[in-house]
Amino acid sequence: MTRYEDTAYVLQGHCSHMLFYFKDAKVDDCVLTCSLHQSQFDIRDGSVITWTEKITGKLLEEIKLKKQLRTYETSVRDGIVYVQWPTNNPDNVRVKY
Ligand code: FES
Repeated sequence: MTRYEDTAYVLQGHCSHMLFYFKDAKVDDCVLTCSLHQSQFDIRDGSVITWTEKITGKLLEEIKLKKQLRTYETSVRDGIVYVQWPTNNPDNVRVKY
């Protein structure tokens, strides 16, 4: 979860490039930069701004394909951020802070 201007944004917690967790990722304005290979994403819609060129060769052709991040709809009521999860079963949702 991150914030830009007055809006909270929730994205998947790992990079779409090689699944590296965003624990140490940097967010400047609306741009999230993965700390492993520096791919950049727009936190507002998960779109790819810059896709890493650091992995080359025939190995893992799949990771060369740009993949945007999954995003989740949010709303704020009484100072609490609510996230619209893509499931109707709350037992399937686990949030770790
Ligand atoms: S794992 Fe994030 S850019 Fe490679």
